[in-house]
Amino acid sequence: MDLLPLPPQIPPDELTRGLGRIILSQDDIQHRIAELAAQISEDYAGCNPLLIGVLKGVVFFMSDLLRAITVPVRLDFIAISRYDPQGRGKGPVRLIKDLEETVEGQHLIFVEDVIDTGLTLSYLLRLLRARGPASLEVCTLFNKPARRLANIPLKYKGFDLPDRFVVGYGLDYREAYRHLPYIAELRPEVLNLA
Ligand code: IMP
Ligand code: MG
Repeated sequence: MDLLPLPPQIPPDELTRGLGRIILSQDDIQHRIAELAAQISEDYAGCNPLLIGVLKGVVFFMSDLLRAITVPVRLDFIAISRYDPQGRGKGPVRLIKDLEETVEGQHLIFVEDVIDTGLTLSYLLRLLRARGPASLEVCTLFNKPARRLANIPLKYKGFDLPDRFVVGYGLDYREAYRHLPYIAELRPEVLNLA
């Protein structure tokens, strides 16, 4: 069998162009995820909880978290879009992909990459609560308390972050930088290109 040609080497500075200081290293993040997973495994032994994420940013955290959890869990995703004539992604929330699993009577853990104002999550939690789950808790890797506008009950939290725009580990800037295994600031001149 012929081997596929290797992709051309991408120079490292293409992947990290525009990045500023690294805020959390890959080790910091993975270590904290192991702690969160241990806590969830203890709290949900025998419960077979359903972990729910919003596409797309959370897939990195979700897959690392799931692999570190030591009790049976199930996984499902929703997708939303926010119509916003100004294109800043802050319009009303519209569900574009619903869950495949039934929620009624289930133990739910809503898994988030980052909670900022909390408005999106607050809407989604209301929607899930209306479907009658047995329990519903929130697990976020990153939390930005400074701009919170909605009261979010946070049972599991990885890190508090300052009110700065950061990228990496699922967080993007115009769909770039998601795949970085760490969290970094963006240099101001990049953000000013908006
Ligand atoms: P909110 O909590 O409703 O304000 O929305 C949170 C969403 O804003 C997240 O799911 C991210 O898509 C986005 N977000 C918030 N802070 C950052 C950041 O620092 N970098 C990248 N995306 C962010
Ligand atoms: Mg998100």
